[in-house]
Amino acid sequence: MDNAGRWPLARKRHQPRTACGPPDPRRPAITLWDHRVTRCRADDHSGGTMTERILLDPRTPDLRAQAEQLRRCGPVAPAEWPGGVHCWAVVGHAELETVLTDPRFARSPTHWRALRDGEIAADWPMLAHLRRTWMLTADGADHRRLRHAVAAAFTPRRVEGLTPAITATVEALLDDLEAAAQDGPVDLRAAYALPLPLNTLCALFGIPPGDRPEVAALVGRALSRAALTPEESAALTREINTCLADLVRSRSAAPGDDLVTDLLRGGTDGDGGLSEVELLDMLWLFLGAGFETTAGALVNTAHALLVHPRELDRALGGRVGWDAVVEEGIRYDSSVYALPFAYPTEDLELGGRALRAGDALLLCFAAANRDPRHGEVRFETGRAGARPRQLGFGQGPHFCVGAPLARLQLRIALARLFERFPGLRLAGPPGPPVPSLIASTPSALYVSR
Ligand code: HEM
Repeated sequence: MDNAGRWPLARKRHQPRTACGPPDPRRPAITLWDHRVTRCRADDHSGGTMTERILLDPRTPDLRAQAEQLRRCGPVAPAEWPGGVHCWAVVGHAELETVLTDPRFARSPTHWRALRDGEIAADWPMLAHLRRTWMLTADGADHRRLRHAVAAAFTPRRVEGLTPAITATVEALLDDLEAAAQDGPVDLRAAYALPLPLNTLCALFGIPPGDRPEVAALVGRALSRAALTPEESAALTREINTCLADLVRSRSAAPGDDLVTDLLRGGTDGDGGLSEVELLDMLWLFLGAGFETTAGALVNTAHALLVHPRELDRALGGRVGWDAVVEEGIRYDSSVYALPFAYPTEDLELGGRALRAGDALLLCFAAANRDPRHGEVRFETGRAGARPRQLGFGQGPHFCVGAPLARLQLRIALARLFERFPGLRLAGPPGPPVPSLIASTPSALYVSR
């Protein structure tokens, strides 16, 4: 990404291909990053028909086309995560809702058959993420204990209490944006969307402004972890843990009015609170889950408004509330593309597929929110009641803990951005998506006043 108003290089458009149906003998053998599909037998136990597995590509120039390619194979599509990891991509709305809410689906990787059978390479990069002791991969009583510890500290009062800090950050960033825009187009992601949630999370943790650049650098490196070697990635994890452990130590010595202090007050594992490892993982989860997600939602919704000026007029004219704009933005262009994995705990049928206990299911939030079985996919702020519930924050026991904070930031940031610059316009097409299968947002969005 570059701040000097230069555009990223244009890339060749991705040509989506149909990937299901009978195998086409004329189709050549295909490599992983060729944005096409390899023919391999998916473990479909509903009749042993030959289906093709879609190779998921974090560097695809068009994540939506990839999702549509999956959808053409049905609401539960055979897919392969980079590293040769087989899974089922759950792209249908009803099917994803079932996986999120039905107790027959678990999140702990102890249920994953391929892992138990030794089929997953020890250095597969996502393994560290799946093995952390955090809420995303916990089930039942374990999960409830972690959620309970967070709920006691991350209260609605604590979230509301961040309003003045968020408003002050927004106004300061908009001042900078106004000054920068005198010299030409400004990248809204770099100048506005990324610094806002980072400052909010630092305020939530009680990290003073002077220490925030160090945290920003660590989080930035973690976001591009896919480009690191396993050794570099392990070294980064150690650095992150050291930084968070320092923070916890300083709060133990000098408690403040912040989330870390409140989590510490909740006690240690002996009395129902968090163990030291759980506390560090919890803080890292907040940074990881609350930063790029919120920045992405801000960029995606600002872009949707800029290309749908009638919807922007309705919001600016007060005919629709900013709350509704935020919700529609997350439905229409979810910043969380997918999360690995959930696992059926028994053999069952889902979306016409016979799944076995321990299969890996990829939770495709963005695709499910655009399920065409619920009508044409359009950005329309006034239609919430006519649609099924949007799943961009998940649903069920793992529903996003940070949704109220994300909504608060997005409401303030979008309203103030467009109230202050009602003539804001795109200075060109969005940059290519950030290289990820988890985040879905352009790497840059240049705007002019
Ligand atoms: C627009 C911004 C955000 C989006 C789109 C988003 C989306 C999501 C999604 C899809 C999940 C997974 C639900 C599931 O697995 O069923 C999730 C979980 C989670 N999110 Fe967010 N999130 C956002 C912001 C935040 C923020 C600001 C925080 C914290 C400050 C946060 C903390 C978490 C945590 C801790 C979980 C794990 C909950 C659990 O497993 O029980 N998120 N989020």
